[in-house]
Amino acid sequence: MNVLGIETSCDETGVAVYATDAGLRAHALYSQVALHAEYGGVVPELASRDHVRKLLPLIRQTLGEAGLRVEDLDGVAYTAGPGLVGALLVGAGVARALAWALQVPAIGVHHMEGHLLAPLLEDPALRPPFVALLVSGGHTQLVAVEAIGRYRLLGETLDDAAGEAFDKTAKLMGLPYPGGPQLAALAEQGRPGAFRFARPMTDRPGLDFSFSGLKTQVLLAWQGSDQGEQTRADIARAFEEAVVETLAIKCERALEATGHDTLIVAGGVGANRRLRAALEAMTARRGARVRFPRPAFCTDNGAMIAFAGALRLAAGLHDDAAVRVHARWDM
Ligand code: KG4
Ligand code: ZN
Repeated sequence: MNVLGIETSCDETGVAVYATDAGLRAHALYSQVALHAEYGGVVPELASRDHVRKLLPLIRQTLGEAGLRVEDLDGVAYTAGPGLVGALLVGAGVARALAWALQVPAIGVHHMEGHLLAPLLEDPALRPPFVALLVSGGHTQLVAVEAIGRYRLLGETLDDAAGEAFDKTAKLMGLPYPGGPQLAALAEQGRPGAFRFARPMTDRPGLDFSFSGLKTQVLLAWQGSDQGEQTRADIARAFEEAVVETLAIKCERALEATGHDTLIVAGGVGANRRLRAALEAMTARRGARVRFPRPAFCTDNGAMIAFAGALRLAAGLHDDAAVRVHARWDM
């Protein structure tokens, strides 16, 4: 079964073809980052319009790279939420129209389930049960994955998501949008121990997170400093260490609480090098293991949607013909 996957929940247009027998056949991504940079954040209306411009050419390109004609598709999967409604509607509308024209089934996929299953794209031998850490710009969650489709929320952020905390902290120290990856790059030049920030909510039991107080600590440290280049790098490093250590502590607790010995990490912050190293060290110490998708499949992409959709379509599931999307949607 050749399944086309379409991701348009935010500011990336992602397209891929996943074959249930041959795996990922092709994938392509167009990022709108440059479009939104001058506004300091994603402008929903501009995002929708750009998805309209880019989606069909990207589908053509992906089919070409896969060596397929559109008639070779056996199903279509699209992100149905959560995300920006206008942006979601572009992907859902195109997916539905294509499926109708081709007379093949289509299915709406939960964006976070896509992230959650992305590590399986790389490693087909990897199977639940495992603990998943989802760390993106919009979400920070620990989920027990007992089986595909059986998810139990263990903990989540009470305020900012981890990626959001990276982005906002970068912004308050004057780094251009999108700040998260730039802050992480700057942190590499930071000196250890020059600053230290709290590890929020690690001093009490539980698996929830809170990152907004950390941002305030950074603001105070930054305002009280010489605001020089080295200081900015030093603060970036201390901030990154605080987030990473907090995430690692909670991941260890989640492994402990569930008894699972596999941790998977998904979402944009999963591209962070210090986080990868900390989770490798923590799991190695416990005799457990951690798996990350490649950085391109940590951030938003069409491959994870094609894959999650293919699992359901292959099991005979699909949605009716209505174009339905959800700005907010529980997994
Ligand atoms: O999953 P994603 O591409 O989009 C959604 O939010 O769904 O995640 C984007 C987030 C942004 O907040 C970005 O700053 C963060 O992931 N991010 C990083 C790194 N790369 C991306 N944060 C820390 N270190 C990185 N290397
Ligand atoms: Zn995402």
